[in-house]
This record gives sequence, C-alpha cells and structure tokens, in this order.
Amino acid sequence: MSVVEIDEQGNEISNSEKKFTVETGDIIYDAIDNQGCQLPHGCLAGSCGSCRILIIEGSDNVAGKSVIEGNTISNIVKDYQDQNPNHFTVGKEVRLSCRARLNGNGDVKIAALKK
Ligand code: FES
Repeated sequence: MSVVEIDEQGNEISNSEKKFTVETGDIIYDAIDNQGCQLPHGCLAGSCGSCRILIIEGSDNVAGKSVIEGNTISNIVKDYQDQNPNHFTVGKEVRLSCRARLNGNGDVKIAALKK
C-alpha cells in the first residue's frame, strides 16, 4: 500500500508519497505505525475522525465499515459538504485509518485528509 498527503484543496503534496506493507487483516493505522510512521490520529477508537483518509485506489481491498466508523464518516462528509457543497471529497471514499482493515492482497493507495 502507499500513502500520499493531500492538502485542503485535494492536491497531492509532492514528495510525500511513502509505501508500506500492510498484511491482510491488519488495520491500516496500526500497520503503518508499526513501521515508524504515524498518520494523523486522536482517539484510535473510531469516534473522533482525526484519522480520516481517502481511499484513492484499491477500495475492494479494504473491509467494510463498522457501524461506529460509518457514523463518524457520515458526520465528517456532512461537515465538508455543509462548508462547501463541491468539496473535493464528494463521491470519494472516506475511511478512518484506525478502523479500516485490509481484506485482500492487492495494493491500496490512501491519502491522509487534513481536517
Ligand atoms: S483516531 Fe479517532 S476515529 Fe480514528
């Protein structure tokens, strides 16, 4: 899997791409943290939304959302759309890195979303 940073307008921050190995069944945040890189985070329990990410590629390789992750993401997306109905995340898959778990062996590309 790879990770890119994205600014508030959805533009990739150059030279920030990093690649990590995340095994099937592992939570994205934990696997990357274990390799010495911390994604933005807060509660690590699925409720604060600080660890929000975009799935840029490979969404089929990420397991479905739990109820708590789904509720937190709904609130995040609503906040973005309340601020700007054309926010760059519209139509894209937002997940929480502290909850999202890989379910396949294919690559996943994510972007850490700024609050
Ligand atoms: S760190 Fe709080 S929801 Fe992931």
